[in-house]
Amino acid sequence: MPTHTTAGGISLYYEDRGRGTPLVLLHGFPVDHRMWDAQAAALAGTCRVITPDLRGFGRSPAAAGTRAARPFTVEDLADDVRHLLAAVSALPCVLGGLSMGGYVALAFARRYPADLLGLALLDTQAGPDSAAAKANRQKNIDLARAKGPGAVVDAMLPKLFAPSADVARPELAAAVRRMAEGYTADTVERAMVALRDRPDATPGLAAIAVPTLVVVGDSDQITPPKLAEDMRDGIVGATLAVILGAGHLAPVERPPQVSETLGRFARDLTSGVRPKAAFDVSAMTDRLRAGR
Ligand code: MLT
Repeated sequence: MPTHTTAGGISLYYEDRGRGTPLVLLHGFPVDHRMWDAQAAALAGTCRVITPDLRGFGRSPAAAGTRAARPFTVEDLADDVRHLLAAVSALPCVLGGLSMGGYVALAFARRYPADLLGLALLDTQAGPDSAAAKANRQKNIDLARAKGPGAVVDAMLPKLFAPSADVARPELAAAVRRMAEGYTADTVERAMVALRDRPDATPGLAAIAVPTLVVVGDSDQITPPKLAEDMRDGIVGATLAVILGAGHLAPVERPPQVSETLGRFARDLTSGVRPKAAFDVSAMTDRLRAGR
């Protein structure tokens, strides 16, 4: 069910499918809630899947003169999500986020630990931007101002999927371009500033006390598997699933594998049968590696 909710002064678009334990999935940059369409369709029979557009992205407006049109931080985005979930009675929840969505999920975990049943961190990282990454944020802002947001998307595309995907699967780039159509230069600038200035989430990893699943594409060039391993090692009891043949946008590039991985995590969590320490997706990762 697609809808808008205004909570905390910010209007967010979200889609809400299925019933049961809320599984909330936060999109990355430069895409929107549609990056989760396959997972939402696959998992709506298992849980209540909520996919918002973060402030100013997709169908969540950043109308001039409103609070949404001001600069924001990843903490602000986490607060928006918390307001939305409280308004639609979806707390506590299992919260997942990819890349930028992962930074927001980590901020949510710092601010609202009691509202979490579980955490899924996909193709993201806990560390802050390096000096080079910060400089690249400014380049993207300048590019968006000079040539439009599409130029930023084009510059990112070679790194969003596994190396052969640009030739073998042109539909993936087309999907990203479609999702970024609504982006404005202002959207790009606010997002780049928020990502550039996000805090180091590493010190907070040890405080995460809910079952955590870390997922990464084996060919992720933006947040490579080593960063996923670091997060797994920093969060007590966390498990890691590597998606084969996937780059940064693994849920878009390998939908069934990511749906299966998230679905198993959500089912194990909600069944309550297995305690946190016993949750283990390594067997599943092995199976995916073996192509079974
Ligand atoms: C994303 O996918 O959300 C971005 O690549 C995040 C980033 O640039 O750090």
